[in-house]
Amino acid sequence: MERVTDAVARAALTLASAHVVSPRVDAELLAAFVLGVPRGRLAVAEDFTPDQVDRFSRLVVARAARVPLQYLTGTAPFRRLELAVGEGVFVPRPETEVLVEWGLGWLRRHAADHSERPAVVVDLCAGSGAIAASIAAETRDVIATRVYAVESEPPAVDWLRRNVTAHGVRVIEGDVTDPAALSELDDSVDLVLCNPPYVPEIGASGLPPEVSEHDPHAAVFGGTDGLDVIRPLIGRVAALLRPGGAMAVEHDDTHAYVVPTLVSADGHFRDVELHHDLAQRARFTTATRV
Ligand SMILES: C[S@@+](CC[C@H](N)C(=O)[O-])C[C@H]1O[C@@H](n2cnc3c(N)ncnc32)[C@H](O)[C@@H]1O
Repeated sequence: MERVTDAVARAALTLASAHVVSPRVDAELLAAFVLGVPRGRLAVAEDFTPDQVDRFSRLVVARAARVPLQYLTGTAPFRRLELAVGEGVFVPRPETEVLVEWGLGWLRRHAADHSERPAVVVDLCAGSGAIAASIAAETRDVIATRVYAVESEPPAVDWLRRNVTAHGVRVIEGDVTDPAALSELDDSVDLVLCNPPYVPEIGASGLPPEVSEHDPHAAVFGGTDGLDVIRPLIGRVAALLRPGGAMAVEHDDTHAYVVPTLVSADGHFRDVELHHDLAQRARFTTATRV
């Protein structure tokens, strides 16, 4: 038996020396995971049993080796959802919640445009399904939607199906830059939301090990300048959208000029606008199909 507070204090020191960004919080979340209680109940939790001490120690060792916390607990919070995650899928990030908020606002403002049919929403580069599942869950009973999620990497597709099936999202395994992917929806989509791989490989040496060693490479990196997927994607989005439909694409903060410029240069969009995330970094670009 061991007091949980003692084990957490020791684990926080271990994680701090491994340069984990939030050692105390991570230690508490792992302890709560082992005990099967919310983090807020730790102070009144029973002592760890010997089995729990063992399990907690192994999780702390893995976290100190910089395995993402969410891979260890098997879930990642995103807006109102807890998504299943693990090796092979990108852990959804809080900045993408802002893009979803924008998408929900757009759907509310334009609900009357498609009152005779459900709004068709496409999540390109869907990963865990964070965007698609949130749109489906947060519009249910409010705005009729038909949501599609496209993902190319087989391990990610497995996680995607696991997360979105209950929300009625249709999963398509395919390359978002391939004109054949979802071509049956060309000219009919109301809203495209997309968080593609966009980190430039050049200058990527400073990334934390959680990203460089654990997030799937295809989920993070977009070639030398980070634009390998975004560049061909823009034309594909233009083909999918109906006139008056809209898109939002997440990108690197260093793309604050280039992505809006690429979208404008495509010639099929108006109202091209750059948006910032909660840390005030340039994070996504929106536009309306002419
Ligand atoms: C940055 S992650 C985003 C995942 C999820 N949308 C989110 O916001 O958490 C990018 C995802 O795009 C997928 N991907 C990369 N290139 C792709 C392509 N050409 N076609 C379809 N999916 C792609 C990756 O496998 C990864 O799951």
